[in-house]
Amino acid sequence: MKKLIALTLALIMVFALANMASADGAKKVGVAMPTESLQRWNQDGANMKAQLEEAGYEVDLQYANNDVALQVSQIENMILNGADVLVVASIDGGALDTVLAQAKEAGIPVIAYDRLLTGTLNVDYYTTFDNYGVGTIQGTYVKEALDLDNAEGPFTIEFTAGSPDDNNAGLFFKGAYDVLAPYIDEGKLVIKSGQTEFEQVATPAWKSETAQARMDNILTAFYSDGTKLDVALCSNDSTALGVTNSLISFGLSAEEMPIITGQDCDIPNTKNMIKGLQSMSVFKDTRTLAEQTVKMVGDLLEGNVPETNATYDNGVMEVPSFNCTPVFADVNNYEALLLDSGYYTADQLAD
Ligand code: BGC
Repeated sequence: MKKLIALTLALIMVFALANMASADGAKKVGVAMPTESLQRWNQDGANMKAQLEEAGYEVDLQYANNDVALQVSQIENMILNGADVLVVASIDGGALDTVLAQAKEAGIPVIAYDRLLTGTLNVDYYTTFDNYGVGTIQGTYVKEALDLDNAEGPFTIEFTAGSPDDNNAGLFFKGAYDVLAPYIDEGKLVIKSGQTEFEQVATPAWKSETAQARMDNILTAFYSDGTKLDVALCSNDSTALGVTNSLISFGLSAEEMPIITGQDCDIPNTKNMIKGLQSMSVFKDTRTLAEQTVKMVGDLLEGNVPETNATYDNGVMEVPSFNCTPVFADVNNYEALLLDSGYYTADQLAD
């Protein structure tokens, strides 16, 4: 009996505390981010926090160190602490159904942020960039840089994709592959490793080191005879960094580098573009994504229907979504895109 009273008191305390925190009337937004170890999520987190606070919300921002169990417990705590809306950038998009069901039970709307929450009915909206479009930008860049419609070739290419537990990774790969498939089929583009399937070229957790080790193996096995690698199609900047490091340790100079694609305009990669070590990246302005998400949070809290312009199939439902537009970036436009817009300072890009 004593235990029951203690438990009841504890529960009353938890709810009282949860309500006290919003005693000033501020609604609470829980923001779950995957990791601080990749640059873009720090920017996403910082932008979301700043913009949500400016809109008058209280923000609980958590990073989960790429640890799924930790992310689950962080979301559980957000629910317990009385979050009014959850914004979730998942580590493994398919691993959160149980905790999202708790949010649904508590009447808390869930917005998937950048990465789709898959295999669950307990997600309300999704804000992201046009992920297939990112891959299309990369593939089209390669097609134009090699003038594939007119050049004779053949050219060599190797693909490096992202993490298999991230729904975006398959879309980036497919977007790029679909543009290049006709040239692969006609033999103008040759994949010497024979690794053409997403599963073969994927990089768990998007780790630079993993991408580097895989490229080390490919170079040793297929390019040690002096065959030149013409294109390293990398889905994002963290994998591009690993691949670039591998090519450098294989002995290539900036002039000898293949075409290397990327995504995110991370600082080390932007520096590499300036040095001629990476050919291009895709800029996804995290301020725009944050802005769109904050708008959605506001609409949900005020009972309005949020604006959407796309849907994504998460395996069990079509999730109403807002696609922001990704932008091509290279050494010729990075100043306008990244410096003039205030995304980075010149100091951050100086060596
Ligand atoms: C994001 C990319 C990012 C990658 C690794 C993806 O879900 O859309 O921008 O490069 O995760 O963090």
